[in-house]
Amino acid sequence: MKQAVEQLKEQFLNDLQDVYSSDGLQQVRDTYFSRKSGRITLLMRQLGKLSPEERKEAGRLVNELRDFAESLFAERQQALRLQDEARRAESERLDVTLPGRRIKPGSEHPIVRVKQRIEDIFVSMGYSVEDGPEIDTTFYNFDALNIPVGHPARESQDTFYIDSELALRSQTSNIQIHAMQKRRPPIRIIAPGKVFRRDNPDPTHNPMFFQVEGLNVAEGIHMGHLKGTLQIFLEKLFSQSVRLRFRPSYFPFVEPGAETDFSCIFCKAESDCRVCKGVGWIELGGSGMVHPNVLSACGIDPKKYSGFAFGFGIDRMTAMLYGVDDIRNFFSGDLRFLEQF
Ligand code: DAH
Repeated sequence: MKQAVEQLKEQFLNDLQDVYSSDGLQQVRDTYFSRKSGRITLLMRQLGKLSPEERKEAGRLVNELRDFAESLFAERQQALRLQDEARRAESERLDVTLPGRRIKPGSEHPIVRVKQRIEDIFVSMGYSVEDGPEIDTTFYNFDALNIPVGHPARESQDTFYIDSELALRSQTSNIQIHAMQKRRPPIRIIAPGKVFRRDNPDPTHNPMFFQVEGLNVAEGIHMGHLKGTLQIFLEKLFSQSVRLRFRPSYFPFVEPGAETDFSCIFCKAESDCRVCKGVGWIELGGSGMVHPNVLSACGIDPKKYSGFAFGFGIDRMTAMLYGVDDIRNFFSGDLRFLEQF
């Protein structure tokens, strides 16, 4: 028996020495201490088979072995636990003195902000906001807008063509046509969106830019409505009174057509005004009374209904509002520029 105890003790010590994880510990526990088949347990069970004299001595030896093994086991368990904790503490170590990483909140792009402002004002006047395709057929881009074959706007020097039928729209006016085909008068919409032209980029041009188109078709609409609408819009946008003037102009889809100017909101016609250059007027965009051909192309009777339309650039408006002198900045994606807004 003594020999068996010694042997077992040695094996136990060997096994315990090789344990580096809680899994290993569990294995040692099963091997030596499990109630059913633990090797120390089995040894204790054998004591019953011995004679009373033998049992006394052997019992002492086995009990000693068990106590010894249990306390060593507990020690190893504790050591491993401490080791684990130390390892975890090291890997999860936080240096609370490190400066924090600043999360930069994004902000709305200035063009988006002005576009929303424009939408809000027109919505408050009873208009709805309409969307339309950026790639459209020649019917919507030109034919229905009374832009005849041979008109410079149709030329490939001005327009990006996908093929002979499809082109990137060069103005948001195509949305007028979609809206008039879908709805019956009274129609009151604005349509902001991207437009594309084969322009070389410079401080006031970019091959992609933003326009907003307006359309109001009902019975009895006239130029006075157009003037009043644009004036109220501008006064709301700039929070000050403005005057409006029309200069006769030609756009195929309106008759009469006009360039629309408003009185400079930055100066009183001073010669060094950076926006109006001392002229006292700022150009808004084109406008006019919807051409009867355009109404007819959309199945609206031009004898019964009339309408006004206008279109202007959102980028230029934004540049003016924020004092930006190169619109290419808006599209550069340069955070140093965008962070200012
Ligand atoms: N689409 C024209 C342009 O890009 C602007 C314009 C002029 C829109 C007259 C209109 C209009 O609706 O009636 O220059």
